[in-house]
Amino acid sequence: MTWDERFASPDYVVPAPMQFLVDLAERLPPGGRMLDLACGSGRHSALFAAHGWSVTAVDSSAAALALASNAHSGIATLQRDLTSPEDFPPGPWDLTVVTLYLDRELLRRIPGARVAIAIPLVDPRDGVRPMNPAYLLESGELRRIFATGWEVEHYRKTSPAPPARSIAELVALRS
Ligand SMILES: C[S@@+](CC[C@H](N)C(=O)[O-])C[C@H]1O[C@@H](n2cnc3c(N)ncnc32)[C@H](O)[C@@H]1O
Repeated sequence: MTWDERFASPDYVVPAPMQFLVDLAERLPPGGRMLDLACGSGRHSALFAAHGWSVTAVDSSAAALALASNAHSGIATLQRDLTSPEDFPPGPWDLTVVTLYLDRELLRRIPGARVAIAIPLVDPRDGVRPMNPAYLLESGELRRIFATGWEVEHYRKTSPAPPARSIAELVALRS
């Protein structure tokens, strides 16, 4: 199933925003500029827009962007293949969010004064739902990518009950 088919399906349910991003939206002052890369149906775009942020949501799926655009009037959308060498939309961005999308090159050149990232991990526990290893980070890898030039404000490795998979969460401020 393609991403467009998934987002356009009548069975698709918009997931709740991740708790560490709910906490971040409550902690940061309203009114910033947020870039949501591989935004999907825009759960985190809508969260920050509801906190008064001006949001640009980027995804390759037109169906995803249609849902994101409908989620809140404060969300501008941009259809783009993030694997292309094209530049990111012009900032400055106070916050760039990437959740459940792994592109190591993108993480290394990510724009923004602050980043919030959540990516599934290799998880050897019994009963964890199989996933293509190409979309998984090794344990400690996210911290290593942001070890230089960033001040890490939050890092957590989640341990949900299987079949759910562990996720690495990170919030970092450019130093
Ligand atoms: C698992 S979803 C995550 C969506 C959202 N970040 C969230 O956490 O709800 C992965 C998203 O990545 C998008 N995507 C996949 N490949 C992409 C690419 N090359 N460029 C831009 N977006 C891409 C898909 O369309 C999909 O919306």
